[in-house]
Amino acid sequence: MTHLATEALAAEKLALHGGPKTKTTPFGTGRRFGEEEKRLLLEVIDSDVLFYVFGTKVRQMESLMKSMYGVRYASGCSSGTAAVHIALGALGIEPGREVITSSITDMGTLTGVLYQLLVPRFADIDPATYNMSPASVEKLVNRRTGAIIVVHHAGLPADIEALAAIGKKHGIPVIEDCAQAHLTRWKGRLLGTFGDIASYSFNHFKHITTGSGGAVLTNREDLEERVRLFVDKCYFRDGRRRNPYFLAPNYQMTELQGAVAVAQLGKVERIVRRRGELGARLIQGLKQVPGIVPQAVPEGAEHSFFLFVVRVDPAAIPVPVAEFCKALDAEGIPCEPNKITGGMPIYLYDVFQKQSAFPKSRLPFVSRDLGSRVSYPRGLCPVAEDAFEHTFNLGLTEFYTEADVDDMVKGVAKVAAHFRR
Ligand SMILES: Cc1ncc(COP(=O)(O)O)c(C=O)c1O
Repeated sequence: MTHLATEALAAEKLALHGGPKTKTTPFGTGRRFGEEEKRLLLEVIDSDVLFYVFGTKVRQMESLMKSMYGVRYASGCSSGTAAVHIALGALGIEPGREVITSSITDMGTLTGVLYQLLVPRFADIDPATYNMSPASVEKLVNRRTGAIIVVHHAGLPADIEALAAIGKKHGIPVIEDCAQAHLTRWKGRLLGTFGDIASYSFNHFKHITTGSGGAVLTNREDLEERVRLFVDKCYFRDGRRRNPYFLAPNYQMTELQGAVAVAQLGKVERIVRRRGELGARLIQGLKQVPGIVPQAVPEGAEHSFFLFVVRVDPAAIPVPVAEFCKALDAEGIPCEPNKITGGMPIYLYDVFQKQSAFPKSRLPFVSRDLGSRVSYPRGLCPVAEDAFEHTFNLGLTEFYTEADVDDMVKGVAKVAAHFRR
């Protein structure tokens, strides 16, 4: 953006103050479900079977994921939360061991950790990518570490080579939480194929959805049976005698979800490619706006733009992000201030602050039996805490047009020009 263009924008009255709105046409929309979902769902109904063991659709979706990702084993399940829990259960980590993960993620990454009586440790993030920093992870590794859960946050690959190398060096298994990063590549290789085991979510907000649903992928032969059993009460479904030998929940995917998953998997490549194109255009546009810093995309990373995160540099634009967003919203550009994922570093949630995972107990955070004693004071991950303060999320879907993206850039530039020092 030239100096003159910036001056001209600064002179424009904000829509919030009665000036002309930037976005005067509706954003592109579209339908996520269509004929393919209807056809496959009808097949399920006609088959009179909704249970995955006797049906074909969950198996079909597992085969599809196996071939798309080039892995030897895939299992459908009921959610992304379930998928992380299954990964931990399959790895068979003893209660009381520590699990290192990102300070910015969804609670679903942590639910299974707590249920398995594992002790969460939170790594800080890189200030430019908002992904967990390998240096911060390395500092947390100790002899109690039982796993590292790498979160590929916002659809941007974390520094997975460095993180997988830390796991390898210390003999610690790596789970890749790919809930936000479907079919996303790092140096041409798909995320989910770097670690020991990977989890995916098909919740409503994800690139593809089955309403609720998830999947677990692994190349490790020794994990296959435990994954299958952890999905399904530790029941053998192949006619072997029923006699569970460990504790496992029921995280089954139904045939209805399986049918929709098959249809959605047929669309994911197009969705990811389109979001990638629009996201790249949005980044290029916003980079021209002084004081506005879009999320950095490292060399070799493909961004699938589950989220679009923007930093407002407080030195250049000294205004609270909520105020910035109020003005941007009025321009017709929806945005969410201080949100990234979760609205705050995850360790500031009550369940961690009050150590209230289980009633009348501080398990697994403080326990003589487990030998654990952790707390998560404010200031634990300063980079993550600062990130929430100074960022907002812009909405971006595969249905938007280039003109929508250009309007978003114009709106941000206008508001930035108004508030700039
Ligand atoms: C990084 C991450 N992990 C796990 C989950 C949990 O997925 P689900 O909502 O399908 O349980 C989510 C969902 O938002 C997520 O973003």
